[in-house]
Amino acid sequence: MISGAAPAVFDLQRVRADFPILSRTVNGKPLVYLDNAATTQKPGVVLDAIASYYTEINANVHRGVHELSQRATDAYEAARERVRAYFNAASTREVIFTRNATEGINLVAYTFVKQRLAAGDEVLVSAMEHHSNIVPWQLVCEAAGAHLRVAPIDDRGELILEEFDRLLTPRTRIASITHMSNALGTVTPVREIVRLAHAKGVPVLIDASQAAYHMRVDVKALDCDFLVATGHKLYGPTGIGVLYGKEAHLEAMPPFMGGGDMISSVSFERSTWNVLPYKFEAGTPDIAGAIGLHAALDYIEARGLDAIAAHERDLLHYGTGVLEAIDGVRLIGTAREKASILSFVMEGVHPHDIGTIVDREGVAIRTGHHCAQPVMERFKIPATARASLAMYNTREELDALGRALRKVRQVFG
Ligand SMILES: Cc1ncc(COP(=O)(O)O)c(C=O)c1O
Repeated sequence: MISGAAPAVFDLQRVRADFPILSRTVNGKPLVYLDNAATTQKPGVVLDAIASYYTEINANVHRGVHELSQRATDAYEAARERVRAYFNAASTREVIFTRNATEGINLVAYTFVKQRLAAGDEVLVSAMEHHSNIVPWQLVCEAAGAHLRVAPIDDRGELILEEFDRLLTPRTRIASITHMSNALGTVTPVREIVRLAHAKGVPVLIDASQAAYHMRVDVKALDCDFLVATGHKLYGPTGIGVLYGKEAHLEAMPPFMGGGDMISSVSFERSTWNVLPYKFEAGTPDIAGAIGLHAALDYIEARGLDAIAAHERDLLHYGTGVLEAIDGVRLIGTAREKASILSFVMEGVHPHDIGTIVDREGVAIRTGHHCAQPVMERFKIPATARASLAMYNTREELDALGRALRKVRQVFG
């Protein structure tokens, strides 16, 4: 294996001790969790925050004058402020809680883009999008007779920026692009993407589902129109996500769903809408989820995004070496700007068999198309095996992956 000590950027053993699940065994072996791009594990502080919400202040928000309701409302709104600060939005009016990133993209598709789309108009995505950043656009394009355009990627898995620019036309109503590919690890030049699109008057949605737990994502610096993220990848709970939108856009948009909380007044003749951000939060929200996400973002900030990124860069480099040393392994996704994802194929072995055999060694990786079938088509492969990293992973775990892959090699010759 590769020699040299990992840089002592932060206290890795302390970080690991903060995540209760990491001490369990799987199939009689210590758990090696390398499926972080699908969802990350949760630190104890997140679990505690959720438990203490339910044990101490459980009540519905924005509705009651009683003590618990006020405390629950305060905690829910404090979570919104935490998210605002994390993404550096100008105001909490620009922070909408959703269920996940998928819901955020659908919200923008149906309330910002749909009514602007006429037959012949275009929506621009890239060839490395997650299905959740493809299918909502297909649905609204189909209804309007509009076209989904796809900016290509090269053999490394990098966005071909000149092609992206060329595909921005007077008919483009939105460009919706990932900040980081879940299938390849490519980190896209988001600032440049926004600059090019804005130069042609095209608004931009950034899918930060992957990027947001690996690097600083600043909506003001990016100047994006919309951005989505999903709580369960940010070391937070499932069921909570975030949509950022520029206030002027959100003000002009109609509601997505109707119901309680999103209204200002209701009569059978006509209803009027609540102010931002509540206009987009119909019904009882995931209060516990927001509180859990607050604790998760506090936890990330306490460890330090720069330190986390430095540690994960070291792991990515180390893991690349581990994989390259194994016979017949080929990495899929070799972008120069890349983070925390090792997607690979092994000659003569289906990725599903790789996943099954390494699981017996306690190593959790993902195999399949990773909800990015067009990426697989681009590289002419049915699937990949993917090891994806988070702040608590270690070089030793990547060695364990290497050992497990050697066993796969032995089985398949
Ligand atoms: C890049 C990317 N976008 C969007 C999503 C969708 O996230 P969610 O299923 O939480 O909405 C994912 C999840 O894997 C992702 O990796």
